[in-house]
Amino acid sequence: MCGIIGYIGEKNAAGIIYNGLKRLEYRGYDSAGIATLDEKKGIQVKKDIGRVEDINRKLDFLSMDGTVGIGHTRWATHGWVTKENAHPHVSNNKKIYVIHNGIVENYQGIKSMLQGNGFNFYSETDTETIPNLIEFEMRKGKDFEQATKDAVKQLDGYYAILAMHEGERKIVAARNGSPLVVGLGKNENFIASDIPAFLEHTKTVMYVHDKDFIVLNGNYEVKFYSLQEGREVSRPIHSVDWSIEQAQKGDFDHFMMKEISEQVETVQKAANQDESTLFAVANAIKDAKGVFFVACGSSYHACLSASYIFSKIAKMHINVILASEFSNYEDYLTPQTLVIAVSQSGETIDVLDAVRAAKRKNAEIISIVNVVGSSLHRSSDHALMLNTGPEVCVLSTKTYTAQLAVLALLAHTVAGRYEEGKARLKYLWNIIYNLTSASTRDHIRRLADKLKDKEHIFTIGRGLQYPTALEAALKIKEVSYIHAEGFSGGELKHGTIALIEEGTPCIVFSSKETEMEIISNAMEIKARGGYIIGVNSENNEIFDFFIKTPDVGILNPITQIIPIQILSYQLAVLRGFDPDKPRNLAKSVTVK
Ligand code: AGP
Ligand code: GLU
Repeated sequence: MCGIIGYIGEKNAAGIIYNGLKRLEYRGYDSAGIATLDEKKGIQVKKDIGRVEDINRKLDFLSMDGTVGIGHTRWATHGWVTKENAHPHVSNNKKIYVIHNGIVENYQGIKSMLQGNGFNFYSETDTETIPNLIEFEMRKGKDFEQATKDAVKQLDGYYAILAMHEGERKIVAARNGSPLVVGLGKNENFIASDIPAFLEHTKTVMYVHDKDFIVLNGNYEVKFYSLQEGREVSRPIHSVDWSIEQAQKGDFDHFMMKEISEQVETVQKAANQDESTLFAVANAIKDAKGVFFVACGSSYHACLSASYIFSKIAKMHINVILASEFSNYEDYLTPQTLVIAVSQSGETIDVLDAVRAAKRKNAEIISIVNVVGSSLHRSSDHALMLNTGPEVCVLSTKTYTAQLAVLALLAHTVAGRYEEGKARLKYLWNIIYNLTSASTRDHIRRLADKLKDKEHIFTIGRGLQYPTALEAALKIKEVSYIHAEGFSGGELKHGTIALIEEGTPCIVFSSKETEMEIISNAMEIKARGGYIIGVNSENNEIFDFFIKTPDVGILNPITQIIPIQILSYQLAVLRGFDPDKPRNLAKSVTVK
């Protein structure tokens, strides 16, 4: 769950890698390191714990010579956050340098075998087995490329690996499960976990497939080999239309607020679907015997909302399963089952595993995904794109509402009401504009001031507002670190109401449809001293603080979350945290 980047060209590699790492920090950021290869000085390495910029201030990455290099931001899976465990890792003979995203599941067996052959280990990571295994294979007389191919074949688990060897002007790479994409330039090439890492240099990319082995050589050629097929293969060249501005902050202090504000446009872009794909997916839903939504985190909450929307608009029941729990439902899959996997990144390993399981049962796979060419995109039968451009902040904001927009449009299309669905989404433009305006932000800032020192925040909603309550709690806790829990309005009294005391804040989402019952639930909280924040189209005397969101019926999940995204952002800022990089989290969760 880290970020990796490699560069080979005519420019200073360290500078390009350092900037790339800053763009990849959203993927994981407890430590970072760079290795560069210089013809005279050999391979140099600098690595430490902390943020890339802080490490640079201490170690001066930019002073490293060489026009070939690899760099890594780590999100630890095996071993503490220490300098020794930071990547790159080196082989015992100090000639082979490796960076790695993922987990080598059989590293203990490989490590014991290597130790039996006299190798020593200096870190607690699984990764350190890789350069040593390559050295072990080279000791048999193989060259670096062949030895790396043979080493990679012995690894179980998910990985994206970049490796360099002393004295050879090339980078070799391999992928299984973890994301990797090649960027093609003029007299320079790149390879990274994600496109923003090299977007300022090139928009021409080649996606790496699982079990691909790649060589970026000194003649600026990129060669792809399939480890499964045992031969060289060709992969298509794509050009991406993201602009660098889309991946940069512009006038905003943080990507999170920039991305929240972009929802005025991104909801509209999400509603702008390729009609033939949308209708094909709608027909597949109608023909299927059993439809499953599969997702994690915020994407799961979008699916849960969509199950209410499908039930109301398309009169259909859809099973909503957390991707990490999907294996428990595998027995019910048949070739007539339709699995709709929803993921911003398209790289969440739990989602990819669920899709693999469904494919084994010959179920049809639809993906709803933001990242073009991601593993999920490529492994689905049909894909509906979110079209939001890159989302850099670790928290999902614009991609969450884009998922809701696509799913709502799909429900309307299944019901034969495509035009109506499009028109309803179009109508949101003005509302989202107001909800993200400076005056709304100021209003919510006053609420953030009141809540910033609270220990707990509860969120409740009924029906369509229940998933919104869950998403609101996730947003608040993941960025402000205030404990937040979301409930269906009726559930709080079944236990958690015991935690309500004088001043405990509770955010109450309601609409004309759910108002009566949810206000009773709010009364129960207020009677125990709770501080009630109402999110609704109409104020109510029991609200201590009111956030107005015009009632847009089944599209309320899109509009009502926006004030709470803003609140979460402001709570994080007021409490002195960086909203773009919450602790312990990573943008793409590419480990189990
Ligand atoms: C939400 O803000 C994220 N932190 C997280 O829950 C995310 O939604 C989840 O990891 C799923 O990611 P995906 O959409 O890329 O699959
Ligand atoms: N498993 C490796 C480690 O713990 C790589 C983790 C990552 O993907 O950042 O160092």
